Parts: sequence; structure tokens; C-alpha cells
Amino acid sequence: MDILITNIKQLVQTRTSDANQWVAGSAMDKLPALDNAYLYIKNGLIDSYGSMHQLPRVSCKTIDATGKFVLPAYVDSHTHLVFAASREAEFVDKIKGMSYAEIAKKGGGILNSAKKLQATSEEELYQFALQRVNELIGFGTACVEIKSGYGLTLQDELKMLRVAKRIGKETPLTVKTTFLGAHAIPKEFTDRNEYINLVINQMLPKVAEEQLADYIDVFCEKGFFTPQETERIVRAGENYGLKAKIHANQLHVSGGVQVGVKTQALSVDHLEAMGQAEIEALQGSQTMPTLLPGAAFFLRTSYPPARDMIAAGLPVSLATDYNPGSAPAGNMAFMMSLACINMRMTPNEALNAATMNSAYAMDLLSSHGSITPGKAGSILITKEIPSLAYIPYAFTSHTIDAVIIDGMLMA
Ligand code: NIG
Ligand code: FE
Repeated sequence: MDILITNIKQLVQTRTSDANQWVAGSAMDKLPALDNAYLYIKNGLIDSYGSMHQLPRVSCKTIDATGKFVLPAYVDSHTHLVFAASREAEFVDKIKGMSYAEIAKKGGGILNSAKKLQATSEEELYQFALQRVNELIGFGTACVEIKSGYGLTLQDELKMLRVAKRIGKETPLTVKTTFLGAHAIPKEFTDRNEYINLVINQMLPKVAEEQLADYIDVFCEKGFFTPQETERIVRAGENYGLKAKIHANQLHVSGGVQVGVKTQALSVDHLEAMGQAEIEALQGSQTMPTLLPGAAFFLRTSYPPARDMIAAGLPVSLATDYNPGSAPAGNMAFMMSLACINMRMTPNEALNAATMNSAYAMDLLSSHGSITPGKAGSILITKEIPSLAYIPYAFTSHTIDAVIIDGMLMA
């Protein structure tokens, strides 16, 4: 469908020559925009935009956006949205004083999700995930990365990835998939190397053979996988052409950031536990630091030092980490609110992090993340709001009026 959006109060994130580069350091606070604009989406792609004085004469569906902002749809570069069941019993345990690590140790956490997922059919998993997908689309997200890691057996990891792939084929979302076999060591493995060998020698070849993953991930954390193990698993993935995206420095200064940089990971994600050495390691690298403030909020941990990272000239991206254990929430606007409120990012920085930089973190910068002719016609139209900063400011308001993905108006 072709769509012409007219009278846009402000068209935000319009980029041309810099449309394919991440946004870093002080540039993160700058958001290119055009007042009183039109946007023309043709054959699913952004065809042109400009001032209302230059409105093209075309006959197609027209949306009047008087008083409204138009921005690129959000890109969520880190989720675990294929799962079998929620875990609110652990939520209550945490309220009563148990830590995330203690819950994991007694067979809760990731292993709890794995047990439930193993007992759930592929079709059921897909149907459960579909509800979350529809919710995400309503929140204005057009692209999502989805990880495995609640299977933890060959069959179940493949099952999860097939579901994630199917979401990419059968729903409007653009999906990238990540193999996270190294999410936790199942209880039945007394020798951890035996499990790591299973991940490397059995799961990985099958995942590659069925072309089920774009990336490889490891939960590099005390009590989960060491930096040495992480490197070994990531190198094995490299042999199959999988780039790394690593869970790093969530609960401890774990060495995960350095492994990510060393292995040229596309992103290192979480980063609640960062020191100066980690920031320096990222400088000059091609690895995107991805912050997941929903997990810090939900687990009541410290937040990543976003200000220090931006001051050091780094880019940062934002994602939801949508999962049943540490972040049961997929709303990117709320992540921007958390980033502003708890990490002192400006609304402009938060929006760059949730569009341009998150698109980089899933290799989608050539097609998403900005309002640029030739990129996907995936945008959101806000309600009539006073300013762009109102989106993260009004942190429980639904500020979206309409979502368009690849030129299709979502219901
Ligand atoms: O990103 N940290 C590792 N994995 C997820 C949580 C998984 C879970 O608790 O189920 C995360 O926070
Ligand atoms: Fe995660």
C-alpha cells in the first residue's frame, strides 16, 4: 500500500549521508527533524519526504498528521520473546528478598523456563509468542532480535529458533535470530565441559545447517559462562559465519566486554557492571554497547553508566531484553523513559539509541533506524503531543496513534 502522511508537526530522525552510521558521543543528543512535513511511502519503502510546500501530487491513502510527530519505528535488538510461561512466582520470591542468582541456583530462573519450554510444542510456543508480537507492534516496534536459550537441548534449541524464524516469516516484524545455547548449564551436566561440547559440536552444526541463526550469544557471567568459555563458543560460531552478540557485565565485571571486543562482537549487552577499563576497551571498536534498562529496573540492580559511556565518545543502544525472568516488558518507549530517568540520557539520546543504534546492533542500519528514502516504510505516528520529549516523560501514556510497517498500516 502507498501512503502519504501530510501536515506532520515534526518528522523526526531524517538522515541522508549519515543514515548508515551509528550515532556516538555528543552527536547522540542531536536529532535531525523537519517541521510541517510530509512523508510518502511507496511500495513499502520511504519514497520521499519534505516540507508541506513541496507536497507531491499523488493519489493514494492519505493520513493527516496535524499536531502529530512521525518517527522511525523502534528497533529492539535484544529479546527472548519465545518462551513458554511467565515467572511471577519468582517475582514474589524476589520481593521477599531472594536474589536473581539465588533463584537461579535453586533451579529457578533460566532452568525453570527451560523445563517449561521443553514440555511445550512448537505450535503452542508460536501461538504464545504471537500475542507478544502483536503487543510489540502496538508499541511501535518493527524489528526484533529473538534469542534461543530456553531450550538447552538440541531439539529444544532448534524448536525455539524455528519459532523465532517463523515469526519473521509470518508476522510484519523483521526478525533476526540468535543462538544462545550457552545461556545456562542444565542440572544434569555435572561436567560443564560436556555441555559446552554439546553446544559446540552438536547444536551449532545443526543450527547452521538449518540456517536458523544470524548470531551467537553467550551469557558471560559468574555462575554461568567464563570469558574463556565465551570466547571458545563465539569462535566456534564464527566458523559458521555467526557474529557474536554477548550478554556481558550484567551482575559482575565479568570480562565479557573485553571478550566481545576481542571477538569483534556486533554488540555487548547489559553492561550494568562497568568500569573504566570496559569503557576504554569499547573505544575504537565496532561493537555496540547495548543497554537494557528494563532488566536493571526489574531486578533493582544498578544501571549502566550511560553518561560516562557517551562522554567517552561511545554510542549506546537501547533494547527491552523482553524475557520472563528479568524483564517481562517489551515497550521501547518505556525503555526510553527508564534511560532518561535512571541513566540521565536526554530524550534525543534515547531516541537515537532506540532507532539508529539499535538498528546497527542487528545489522539493519541500511534498511531501518531513520527516515531516509529507500529505507523501509516502517514508522510510527504519535498522538497529538506537545513535544518529542513528551514520549519518555509521560511514562505510562500510550502516545502512539498509528504504526506502519513496510508500508502496511497496522490495525
Ligand atoms: O538477559 N541474563 C541472561 N538472560 C536473560 C534473563 C533470562 C532469564 O532470567 O530467564 C537476561 O536478563
Ligand atoms: Fe537477555
